[in-house]
This record gives sequence, C-alpha cells and structure tokens, in this order.
Amino acid sequence: MADPVIALERVTLRYPTAPSPTLRDISFRVEPGEFVGIVGSTGSGKSTLLYLLAGVIPHYLGAEIGGDVRIYGRRTQELSLARISERVGLVLQDPEAQLFNLLVRDELAWGLENRGLPRAEIASRLASTLGFFRIEKLQDRITYDLSGGEKQRVALAAVHAIAPAVYLFDHPTSQLDPIGAAEVIGAVRRLAEQQQHAIIMVEDKVDELVEHADRLILLNEGRIVLDAGPREFCLRKDLLDAAGVRPTQMAELSSRLVEAGVKLDVPPITLEEMTVALRALLPS
Ligand SMILES: Nc1ncnc2c1ncn2[C@@H]1O[C@H](COP(=O)(O)OP(=O)(O)OP(=O)(O)O)[C@@H](O)[C@H]1O
Ligand SMILES: [Mg+2]
Repeated sequence: MADPVIALERVTLRYPTAPSPTLRDISFRVEPGEFVGIVGSTGSGKSTLLYLLAGVIPHYLGAEIGGDVRIYGRRTQELSLARISERVGLVLQDPEAQLFNLLVRDELAWGLENRGLPRAEIASRLASTLGFFRIEKLQDRITYDLSGGEKQRVALAAVHAIAPAVYLFDHPTSQLDPIGAAEVIGAVRRLAEQQQHAIIMVEDKVDELVEHADRLILLNEGRIVLDAGPREFCLRKDLLDAAGVRPTQMAELSSRLVEAGVKLDVPPITLEEMTVALRALLPS
C-alpha cells in the first residue's frame, strides 16, 4: 500500500524554554483527499502541531522531538525545509505575516517565479488560482490596502498557486464574516474532493468544520483525546467539555432534546438534519 500523506507515530515535542512537553504521544494518519479538522482550546498545541507538520519545527524553530513525523513516508527531520515546502503548504493565522509583495498578482506569482516556472505556466496557474478563490477582482490591488478577509484569501491563494499536495491551515477564516468563512471552507473542501489534496485545518468554527471535514481531532493539553467523524465528535460532550470546546449548536440542542426525553434515533448535528428530524416528530 502507498504511504499515507502524513503519519505521526507517538510524537512528543518540547520547546527548549518550556518546562514540560507541548505535544504528548500524538499519533494519526492522513490519506490523500482527506479533510481533517483540528480543534482545541487556546494553548492546546494546535499551531505547534501545524509547524511540526510543515517542517518549521525543527528546521526553523528548535524543539526536542520524540517519535516519528513522516510526509509520504519520509521523516521530516531528514528532509530540508525547501523539500518539505514543495509538498506542504502552510497558511498562517495572521495573513500579514505571509504577504510581502506590493501587488496581489505578484504575491501569487512569487512562489512560481521562485521555482523557475516558464511565463506561460505562471500565467495559467495564476488565472486558475484567481478563479478558484473568486478573487479575479483583487489581482491589481495593493496587498497592504486589502481588508483582513481579502488578505486571508490572497494568502490562501498564494499557497494554492504553488500546488502543494498537503495544505495546513491555521484559523483560515478568523478575519472573515460568516458567509466569507463558509465560502473559503467550501473552496478548501473542493481542494480535497476534486484534487485529492490532504487538508488539515485548525479552526474554532466547529459548525463549519462539521459540514465539510471528514474527521475532527480534539487536542487537550497537547494530547489527542478524540479523533472521530463529525457526528461522533459532536456527541462526545464529556470530552468536549473537559477540553473547553463547544460542539455545534444543533448537537447541543440534540443533547438537550434527548435529556428531555425526545426520541432521536440519529441525533442531528447540523441545521439541515435537525429540520428533518423535527419535521418527522410533528403530526402530519
Ligand atoms: N516558541 C515557543 N517556545 C516556547 N513555548 C511555546 C512556543 N510556542 C508556543 N509555545 C507554548 O506551547 C503551547 C501551545 O502553543 P500553541 O501556539 O501551539 O497553541 P494553540 O493551540 O495554537 O493556541 P491558540 O488557539 O491560542 O492559537 C503554549 O503553552 C505556548 O505558550
Ligand atoms: Mg495557534
């Protein structure tokens, strides 16, 4: 069988200045086309996990690492950061930290020019990326004049332009309104579905993740305490409470209805499911 895109085996990580490990005994795998959400309260180790997967740790930021981190079967500690970044694209939480060109169009072309691609290839990739994220109108704008949400889309598109196989997102919708957030997460879903990219997304908006992710991982103080499909994830109220994370509003409503004695065979976790379930309860 082919190697999984990402494979972590009993990984522990401690920053040099930290008294105790930030990640503890982390194991999971991600296959091509999979969309995995990562949820956890502040300081639980989500960004650290992304930096480790992107090779930022240990190649840029030092840390003591135990266990095994592999991308396509190769240990990241043995690959250079340049080799890792051909396959793994990281979209940071703060888009300003990622944008450094004057014009949007140069921002998107930068990574491609750096790889020495021919002009025609750059132009065609640029056009397809602009179309994919519906940001054609932004291409001649100055990056530092963009709104937070626009910057976030451009940062995402700049990573998309270099066509990595694995995308890591740290709160990619923090500066977007609910409609913009849903649009961006929907576009990311298409990356997984249509192009078989592997997606790992750190996001607080559990409602959005549940609609699109195949699996959700819950981190609590650097440990994986739950790794499950969206429904099972939302219904583990005990683990979510302990980790300080709320499930979707509809999952909370489901739990309350069940507590109140309403019989729900499959507890709904989305608004659509809830509408169907409540309709079925009404007399016809
Ligand atoms: N470079 C560093 N050196 C030492 N400790 C660090 C470093 N970076 C992060 N930490 C610590 O590691 C822990 C996890 O931090 P991390 O940024 O991964 O959490 P997070 O889950 O991404 O939080 P947030 O939701 O606030 O973004 C925190 O206790 C943090 O203080
Ligand atoms: Mg973080």
